[in-house]
Amino acid sequence: MAQRETWATRTGFILAAVGSAVGLGNIWRFPFVAGEGGGAAFLVMYLLFVGLIGFPAILVEFVVGRRTERNPVGALMQLGGNTWKYIGGVFIVTGFVILSYYSVVAGWFIRYFLEGLRSSYASQLAGFESAAAEAGAPVAAVMFGELSTGIDAFVFHTLFMAVTIGVVALGIRRGIELATKLMVPAIVLLLVGMAVWAFTLSGSSAGYEYYLSPEFGVILDNWTSLLPAAAGQAFFTLSLGMGVMITYASYLGEDRNLTKDALTIIGFDTGIAFLTGLVVFPIFFAAGITEPGEGGPGAIFVSMTEAFATLSGGRILGILFFGTVAIAALSSAISLLEVVTAYLIDEKGVERWKASLGMGGVIYLLGVPVTFDLIFLDLLDLFADGILLVFGALVLMILVGWIAPQFAVEELSKGIGDLGSLGQAWIWAVRVPIIIVLLVSLSLGVMDYV
Ligand code: PHE
Ligand code: NA
Repeated sequence: MAQRETWATRTGFILAAVGSAVGLGNIWRFPFVAGEGGGAAFLVMYLLFVGLIGFPAILVEFVVGRRTERNPVGALMQLGGNTWKYIGGVFIVTGFVILSYYSVVAGWFIRYFLEGLRSSYASQLAGFESAAAEAGAPVAAVMFGELSTGIDAFVFHTLFMAVTIGVVALGIRRGIELATKLMVPAIVLLLVGMAVWAFTLSGSSAGYEYYLSPEFGVILDNWTSLLPAAAGQAFFTLSLGMGVMITYASYLGEDRNLTKDALTIIGFDTGIAFLTGLVVFPIFFAAGITEPGEGGPGAIFVSMTEAFATLSGGRILGILFFGTVAIAALSSAISLLEVVTAYLIDEKGVERWKASLGMGGVIYLLGVPVTFDLIFLDLLDLFADGILLVFGALVLMILVGWIAPQFAVEELSKGIGDLGSLGQAWIWAVRVPIIIVLLVSLSLGVMDYV
């Protein structure tokens, strides 16, 4: 078999991991959870969770990947023995299921991006006005309902999966590394540009107030729901629990400082989430939308389309915004397909292009029902995100924290030197608090599902 691939550069690895981490979680979920959860007060709590839970957990995935140089199935088998390969299989299934609907949602963003190129968002909304009046529903909601399922959704799901497969088929250096090297700087530049633009809009200042004024009372009143939300967000936003970081770290040839890399990746992810809030809320308030609450998978399209239809220059802003999210979704999707592809390459000796096309094709088919009825989106999401992901993360923490901690400390110290008591502190963070948080989340997820 050909030699296993590696990243060409350290920056390449970091950008690929940042590309995976930065996705719908940052651009949609984070600003809203923060806005509703007490603004700056929530931000502090979230940072604590990312530091106390996300940071140790991403290091676990890194050491597992770098030590074994394998996909999650091969990696767990190597560390824990033969039965662990079935648990590794959970990671593959999770990535598989999540990508199937992630692609449908990403397709919507491509659609709205292209719609903006075609005509202004205001004139598109006008086209749905009579239908909205008839249904007695907000016009943007009617438009979203029309566009999010059926043949259009199907076409853009197809397009998105085709591009994802293409990048992964090209391999680590020529595909993923090159693509994310272009995409991540583009995402940052576009968001900074939009944040500056949003700042200049009249009426935007109320948006900063909504987003950033610390309200500790909100946290104290709602901590039972905010705590699990912040913990879950810490895992999801860093792409943990799906074997992505295991797989990406498995292409690290040399031993270098994983702690530093983890901090860089977390810094980018958090920075971009924060920056998105500086785009979204000023735009809403400038457009007169003062209660931009959460509301299902379509909410971002509904309220953003309304804003872009109202603001002067909204069309260009909208094209930039929807385009940026589509890029961010692509760099996350390729990481999910890479997990599944790496499994077939490592364990079954399948050639890369066949593996990515074959697995990508089956994932694509699994997503097709979602394009016809959004009920499947909720079902798949609850199952994969609320249960599979947390389960995978949990058993990985048990393996590394309780069954094979020596290798982990030794592996982490490579490229750093003796960790001293910090290594023990890390293992204990994995052993107790993280496992408790995951157990609580898992019970909540199962209760949600049944
Ligand atoms: N981290 C991504 C986000 O914040 C989601 C994701 C999870 C992507 C797992 C890939 C793998 O949106
Ligand atoms: Na993220």
